[in-house]
Order: sequence, then structure tokens, then C-alpha cells
Amino acid sequence: MKIAILGAHGQIAMLLHPILRSNGHEVIGLIRNPEHADEVQSAGARPVICDVETQDDISEAVGKVDALVFAAGAGPGSGADRKWTVDRDGAIKLMDAAKKNGIRRYVMIGAMKVEEPRGNEVFQVYQKAKSEADKALRESGLDWTIIRPGRLTDDLPKGRIALGPDLESGEIPRADVAAVVAEILDMPETAGYQWDLTSGDSQIDVAIRQAL
Ligand SMILES: NC(=O)c1ccc[n+]([C@@H]2O[C@H](COP(=O)([O-])OP(=O)(O)OC[C@H]3O[C@@H](n4cnc5c(N)ncnc54)[C@H](OP(=O)(O)O)[C@@H]3O)[C@@H](O)[C@H]2O)c1
Repeated sequence: MKIAILGAHGQIAMLLHPILRSNGHEVIGLIRNPEHADEVQSAGARPVICDVETQDDISEAVGKVDALVFAAGAGPGSGADRKWTVDRDGAIKLMDAAKKNGIRRYVMIGAMKVEEPRGNEVFQVYQKAKSEADKALRESGLDWTIIRPGRLTDDLPKGRIALGPDLESGEIPRADVAAVVAEILDMPETAGYQWDLTSGDSQIDVAIRQAL
């Protein structure tokens, strides 16, 4: 498959590119900063410039691919405005590009518990932005899967997860999130599911099959 990833220089995305390449896929890495092109290329994705905040229509950058992954985010330290323009509007612009280009498959990296407001005001805007993006995707008519990880860590991958519609809070290494997203892209039968994701006891493929 040809797969385009928005937020391709992000920490999860950079772990995802080599997995997708070793699974035989071609990867388009949508990045906003041209200075990241070499790193993204070395990780296995073909870099294409795409800033989802300065462009209204990103369909040309997205191109003709078989599947999309939303791995972007305004990130820690950003204000409420950018939670809205990246985490919500950016995800919706990627849905619009999917529809315009006839791309059916869309995998979202969401976040756990975004319908349960907590933290400071900016964090609550982030939660609302992620929640609205997920809702827009569920209602998009696309072949979507939404993965909602708990707190992300940079630990080595454990290869053992918990996956389900409503899990207890927890954490998970970014490397395991990347492995789950890669597995899901190879399982079209996961379309229409939204799952929380934390570290747990099950092998990734087993956990996904059990959640179906
Ligand atoms: N942190 C947590 O504990 C947690 C928990 C659950 C879910 N999540 C979600 O998981 C997502 C991915 O995590 P991560 O650690 O891989 O994130 P990350 O390293 O912050 O990556 C986000 C990527 O989005 C890109 N981006 C920002 N603005 C953009 C724009 N206008 N146009 C295009 N790309 C843009 C960034 O580009 P630059 O490289 O140019 O900055 C960055 O590469 C997060 O964004 C968050 O929503 C996080």
C-alpha cells in the first residue's frame, strides 16, 4: 500500500516509517519543516511539504494514496489556538483531502479520556479538539480506525498491550503505538473501531483480534 502520514517528523511517526517499510509499504511523510526532510527520508518515508495550518486544502500534498495516518499534534508548550488549528482542524483537513482524493482508509492517533475534562485550560482545549476530530472522523463515512493511547513514554517497546473501547488510564511507549498503528493498517477489518490503548499483557495481533 501507499500510505501518507501527517506529522511525519513526529516521534510516533518516525518510529512508524521503518515498520511500514519493512511490511512492504511505500510511505509519504507529510512535514511542515523542509529541514526535517533528510531525517524523514532516512527513516523510510518520502518527504512532502504540508503545513496543515497555513494551507486550507492539503489534497495536493496528500496525493493519491491508499491510506492516511493522522500523527500530527500541536505538541506540548503550544497554546490553545494551535490545539484547535492542528489537533482538530488539521485532522478535519486530512479527512477533506481523503474525500477529495478518493482515499477511503484513515487511521487516527487520538488520545484517551478526551471526553473527561481535566488539567489546565489549554489541556482542556486540547481534549475538546481531539474529541471533536474523532467525532468528525466517526461521522465522515470513511473507513476509519481511532487509536487512543494513554500517556506516551519513550521507553523501549514492550510488545504487550491492552486495547479496548474503555480502558483504565495508563501509559504506553511510543514504539508500541507505532507497532499497533502498523498492524491496524494491515487489517482493514479494524475499520469502524475506536479503541483505548495502554501497555498490557497481550501480544499486539492477539489484542486486536480479541477487540474485533
Ligand atoms: N503526549 C502524550 O502523552 C499523548 C498521549 C496520547 C495521545 N497523544 C497524541 O499523540 C500525538 C502524536 O504523539 P507524538 O509524541 O508523536 O507527537 P509529536 O512528536 O509532538 O509530533 C507531532 C508532529 O506534528 C507536527 N505538526 C505540528 N504542527 C503541524 C502543522 N501545522 N502541519 C503539519 N504538521 C504539524 C509536528 O511537526 P514539527 O516536527 O515540525 O514540530 C510534529 O512532527 C500527539 O500529538 C497527541 O495528540 C499524546
